[in-house]
Amino acid sequence: MEGITRKHWNLLISFTSVTVIVLLLAVCICTGALAPASTSSAGDSSDISFRTSHNDTRASARRLVARASVDDDEKTVPKHRLPKSVIPRKYSLTIVPILDAGFEDVLGRQWEAPGHVVVDVVAAKVTKTIILHAKNITIHNVTITHNSEEISVRNISLHERFSFMKIHLNQHLTPGDPYTINITFTSYVSEVLNGLFRSSYINQETEEQEWFAATHMEALHARQMFPCFDEPNLKAAIEAKVGRREDYVALFNTESTGNETMQDVDGWVWETFAPTVPMSTYLTALIVAKFQYSEAPGKLLPETRVRTYAPPHYIKQGAAVYPTQAAERILSTYGDYFKEKYPMKKFDCVAVPAFLYGAMENYGLSIFRETLLLHFNHSTESQRYIVTNVIAHELGHQWFGNLVSPEWWTNLWLSEGLTKFLEYIGLNATIPEFQPWDIFISESLQLGLRLDSDSRTSHSLKIDEDAWLMKNEMEWFDDIAYKKGGSLIRMVQGFLSEPVMRKGLSRYLSRMKYKAAVQDDLFADCDKEGQLAHKLPDNTTMKEVMSGWTLQAGFPLLKVSLQGASNVTVTQEKYLTSGGAGNEKKVKWFIPVSVATTRFPNFDPEPEFWMRDNETTVSIRLPANSWIILNAGNTGFYRVLYDDELTNRITNQLMEFPERIHKYSRAQLMDDYFNSAWNRYISVKTALNLTRYMKDHAETEQVVWTSLLAMLKTAFRLFKESEEEFTPLQKYMLPRIEKAIQATGGYDAVNINSTGMPVLRHAQLLDWACNLNSRGCIQHALELVKSWKNTGQLTIPRDFRTVIFSTAVASDSSGEMFEFFKEQYKNGESVGGLKDQILTALSNTQDPGRIKR
Ligand code: BES
Ligand code: ZN
Repeated sequence: MEGITRKHWNLLISFTSVTVIVLLLAVCICTGALAPASTSSAGDSSDISFRTSHNDTRASARRLVARASVDDDEKTVPKHRLPKSVIPRKYSLTIVPILDAGFEDVLGRQWEAPGHVVVDVVAAKVTKTIILHAKNITIHNVTITHNSEEISVRNISLHERFSFMKIHLNQHLTPGDPYTINITFTSYVSEVLNGLFRSSYINQETEEQEWFAATHMEALHARQMFPCFDEPNLKAAIEAKVGRREDYVALFNTESTGNETMQDVDGWVWETFAPTVPMSTYLTALIVAKFQYSEAPGKLLPETRVRTYAPPHYIKQGAAVYPTQAAERILSTYGDYFKEKYPMKKFDCVAVPAFLYGAMENYGLSIFRETLLLHFNHSTESQRYIVTNVIAHELGHQWFGNLVSPEWWTNLWLSEGLTKFLEYIGLNATIPEFQPWDIFISESLQLGLRLDSDSRTSHSLKIDEDAWLMKNEMEWFDDIAYKKGGSLIRMVQGFLSEPVMRKGLSRYLSRMKYKAAVQDDLFADCDKEGQLAHKLPDNTTMKEVMSGWTLQAGFPLLKVSLQGASNVTVTQEKYLTSGGAGNEKKVKWFIPVSVATTRFPNFDPEPEFWMRDNETTVSIRLPANSWIILNAGNTGFYRVLYDDELTNRITNQLMEFPERIHKYSRAQLMDDYFNSAWNRYISVKTALNLTRYMKDHAETEQVVWTSLLAMLKTAFRLFKESEEEFTPLQKYMLPRIEKAIQATGGYDAVNINSTGMPVLRHAQLLDWACNLNSRGCIQHALELVKSWKNTGQLTIPRDFRTVIFSTAVASDSSGEMFEFFKEQYKNGESVGGLKDQILTALSNTQDPGRIKR
């Protein structure tokens, strides 16, 4: 690849046959999505498109003929998609993000990114037009060559709505032949946080503002950095050559292969990067910054060098050590799990202070908001969980999304949903002390169900193409894609079993790697393994089972009722927030139903029977007086409600010996019953009855508490202000919560060195106990703070400082606590958000007058 400086361009520009064209489209991101879905034939090419002198009548006639053949290409694909008449194989990108002023004469202006891209393509159809994407880019020069011979370019036009850049040629391309597209351009280091963008941090030593360049391409922003075929299915290798100042680090998706000084520009170097594996353009990434790094020991992954880059002060504090180790471990876990190794030689995580999203999975160079990647000595356990979670997610994408990409954005869940699921496999291998799969239940399954039953948030998982066009593409990255998507994969694992699912996913990865997939590809590979292992219903394919779940919005409610002494009927209908009052009660789900009963309390997710998508009612036999739980194992993406008698039997079992019903089923009973009470399917009393057991038998499972308390949170907020309503809630809940605290080791059970789930559980229980004015909890809070005051040692576990501090201030009318915290606020150190916690505590005083004093 050749380096380009301003001097080179002047040469290029003056000697080329096609005159310089400036096609700068300053279009706001949303223009495309908001514009009416009109057609985009020749008519919408932008005014500034370039026309040559060939534009005479004869040429027009020729063009008409040419257009007919182009239109043939375009007819087969939707108007917003590329025609696939030209397929990219490799990009060689040269780019210089200019972060300073003072290089106008040699490189360009500050915040410009002059560049050059050579795209090796193969023609797939007879065509006279090459269409790729470019947005907010100034194009200087375009040449096309075929076996080193230049092909004459008639003109270039830009089409705003879908950011198409059309290169109209004077001759047809021959299918099967290779061509090279050469484009010299200037893109911009944008102020807005997408495409190639700029951001800054304060250097802690010099106190100066340091600018850096970073990227965010998903979904449609790679086209803002360089002209490219910006669709996930058009994969190609990308190699890069980046111009940077000597004292900066440049990072790309792959490892650096060396650097050389720029001949014409003092203090600048060209750094070259190895070609990537074939990849989608939305995964391209570039960083130019004065960052430093931490490196993993490399024992787990000898073939891949893992690093975390961050601003220097964070590296000095050791904040990148934990994420680097976690990343290495998680990458090796996934590689082993699927027997499909991470394919590149390096993997970098980068912490940036500002980022539009939480994190982005760029191939080999994932970028994170710093608060979601770095880990400090003073971090809480809940922060450690979140950081590991985000790493496990972005690394999961290196398989689902990067190695196998969604064919198009309507299949987004193949990237986000599969990754949401994989995330927990990574977490389970790295931080099992948090019991990650328990967290999945409330975080993904229950939230997914809630959003999918509400017509305002629900949609089919496979996005309808027209619906996709109507919204900004970013809005589709919603909890349906992530949480319903992830939960359905867990449901499939439930009926296929873990080993068969793993084989299905491995088959999918190995068959589809470096390609793009639609959901039927995933289903076909799982089907193959499912059929071999006889895990699917008779004469039924995986696709048939899954179409109801993925092609329509919502999920079923199973109603279970006793008929006579030993006959149980199960019916399915659509679950709705309106309590089933809507008219949308179509029955279309193929439902795996696992069953547990008094005699067979088997909570394995393997289905006992299937309810087919044309069955509204199924009858099963049940021994007299037995309880029955459907969706045992709680892997099904649906709700279950039992009639009064069957609900009573479950309640009685819970009162007698709750552990006999698996914790996941106890959690789901809470979620199904309280949701259904709020949605008016059943009475609140029926739901509350299910928690009666907690008074005598301590409920110690975090997953059950999280499910229940999530449901009571709204009630708490509503009732808090009124004593009449608050007192009954307090009376009912406090004994149950206090019982749980006692049974899990009492108030002192967790200390500053405790880790994992017990810390999260304690934090949640203490939060509720103190907020419900538990005397024991208040006492405990006062003791902890007094001990801090007396000893000068702050040893209160970080995860519940806010609640302890606030309780201490709120419950002390003498003002002693208030004064102590005020003093700490003024004179104490602020590490790990301590001052914010103190401020919250101060705002809880009984005497607001104090705040002013
Ligand atoms: N691919 C997404 C980032 C993204 C989100 C790109 C929305 C474009 C639009 C990334 O993998 C992701 O899901 N990030 C999450 C955090 C993650 C831990 C769930 C985010 O940014 O919220
Ligand atoms: Zn993601």
